[in-house]
Amino acid sequence: MKEELKQLETEIEREIKSSQSGESLKKYLNKNSQLSLLFSKIKELDLKERVEAGMIINELKRRIIKAVGEKGQQKQLKKSDYFDITLPGQKPEVGHLHPLTQSISQARKIFEGMGFITVEGPEVEDEWHNFTALNFPKDHPAREMQDTLFIKGDRNLSERERKLMRTHTSPVQIRYMLDKKPPFRIIVPGRVFRNEATDASHEVNFYQMEGLMIDREVSAGNLKAIIEEFCHLFYQERVKIRLRPSFFPFTEPSFEVDVSCSTCQSRGCSVCSETGWVEIIGAGMVHPQVLINAKVDPKKWRGFAFGMGWDRIVMMKYKIDDIRLFYSGDLKFLNQF
Ligand code: DAH
Repeated sequence: MKEELKQLETEIEREIKSSQSGESLKKYLNKNSQLSLLFSKIKELDLKERVEAGMIINELKRRIIKAVGEKGQQKQLKKSDYFDITLPGQKPEVGHLHPLTQSISQARKIFEGMGFITVEGPEVEDEWHNFTALNFPKDHPAREMQDTLFIKGDRNLSERERKLMRTHTSPVQIRYMLDKKPPFRIIVPGRVFRNEATDASHEVNFYQMEGLMIDREVSAGNLKAIIEEFCHLFYQERVKIRLRPSFFPFTEPSFEVDVSCSTCQSRGCSVCSETGWVEIIGAGMVHPQVLINAKVDPKKWRGFAFGMGWDRIVMMKYKIDDIRLFYSGDLKFLNQF
């Protein structure tokens, strides 16, 4: 027995040293192993030998169990410690700003470079700020239900109390002028609402970028220069500007500002309806009555205002042909920006 145990001890010793994972040691622990067999024979020995052999066998078992545990752990560590620096990295998914928001930030920087500050106003507006103060006649068709989304309420309310979803960003001109003292140089990016059927170029809600510059000496020439400079910096190319006479109740004279089509370099395409020009800005010299309504003295102060159809401006920059894409929440579209 002693001899057999000695031999087994040497064998196990060797195995503990050479085993990589500890797997090969497990065979010494099962019921039919030589070690278990010797253990069952212990009872045949006399007392002194029995105690001695028992101790040796138990000590061996303990060492095997310990080695199996340690080697298993080492193996696991080796696996997870391994880092293959040649594997391409996994790009974490991160969100980003919507293209309309991104482009509004770009525009803010450009206008801030020309001394304009950015202001905002409420999306739920009252009829006085949205129409009356801007010199819309009482019976102007734009006030009617087909264009304007009125908020449900008492029909007998005064126009200062009657609420609606603002149809343009122009009422913020009034709010700002009533609140501050001239000179003014502001832009107003924001969401506006119209009760319209939607198609590739119309949405119920869309964005505008309003501009207002009031000072002692401001001319339509300044308006043209500022819009030209803005377009140059925003589109990163020289674009041509064309002013056409138009009509808005809050400006006199009023213009429609056309920008040469950057999609086709004015050769004619679907974006510009084959004309080479895209109409994206309404503008004009602020009507004296509007200044009076906003408590600004028209004898001392004058200036221009403009309203950009922001979605269209961005559509032209990125050659997007359907305004509804901006509001669809489609990640295939949004992830391109
Ligand atoms: N508010 C006009 C619209 O929604 C756009 C506009 C035209 C704004 C001329 C202006 C302006 O400030 O001077 O159609």
